[in-house]
Amino acid sequence: MEALFAEGFPEFISGDKEVDKYIARVRESFREYDLILTDEDDQLAATGWGVPIMWSGEVSELPSSFAEVLRQSIEVHGVLGVADTFVIGGAVVHPSLKGSGVAASLIRALCDSAAAHHLANVIAPVRPTRKHLYPLLNIDAYAAWVRDDGMPWDPWLRLHVRIGGRVIGLAREAQTMTDTVSRWEEWTGLEIPVSGDYIIPKGMAPLRIDKTADLGIYVEPNIWVRHR
Ligand SMILES: CC(C)(COP(=O)(O)OP(=O)(O)OC[C@H]1O[C@@H](n2cnc3c(N)ncnc32)[C@H](O)[C@@H]1OP(=O)(O)O)[C@@H](O)C(=O)NCCC(=O)NCCS
Repeated sequence: MEALFAEGFPEFISGDKEVDKYIARVRESFREYDLILTDEDDQLAATGWGVPIMWSGEVSELPSSFAEVLRQSIEVHGVLGVADTFVIGGAVVHPSLKGSGVAASLIRALCDSAAAHHLANVIAPVRPTRKHLYPLLNIDAYAAWVRDDGMPWDPWLRLHVRIGGRVIGLAREAQTMTDTVSRWEEWTGLEIPVSGDYIIPKGMAPLRIDKTADLGIYVEPNIWVRHR
């Protein structure tokens, strides 16, 4: 799973200090929700994971960030019968199988796993896979962008919707990555000479650099989808 996730995401994804606080405990606590799909030759095809939380069903009470999802999952861990909602935390298809339709099977398998664990709701803070091509467009406009057939323009969001998901909200600050300027230079391959806003490779939004504080801040939005 780790190898696939390392391949599937930009390096700066590891820069969310709030996520760092919880991720090790989450990995330990919720292994039963880790999924691996294999092909007919038993080769790794896709992987996904998620966590259980307690959620009222109200959009206004969705976790405010990805780190908050993880924090809430740890809160309900070990408390019998409290969790009612499965939050999809991540999904990756093996590079050789991308574009082959395995992703739909993966989301369905995650939903089935939630049902098997008696979790009535399935939600996903979707990280739109083509948003990085439009880093200056705000997430409200991007999430609302549909094709002529009425389906979402973003391919990953579209897949969620095609298999029955519904967009229910936005997490405008789903993840906040912060680190030193030199670390951002490493992660992006850019030279960063002065303070200012930078478009970075694979970045869904600009990176804001403060040279005096030796700090780069990058905030990533997600789109909340609810599955049936
Ligand atoms: C996101 C991901 C799981 C989707 O898997 P996938 O195998 O590409 O999914 P599919 O083949 O079912 O394609 C889904 C849609 O994207 C479209 N698509 C696939 N590759 C595309 C590309 N390079 N450019 C544009 N559209 C593309 C497909 O046509 C399909 O849309 P359609 O059904 O309307 O035709 C996969 O790309 C991946 O592992 N990405 C890296 C990790 C990641 O970003 N995960 C999501 C956040 S957790």
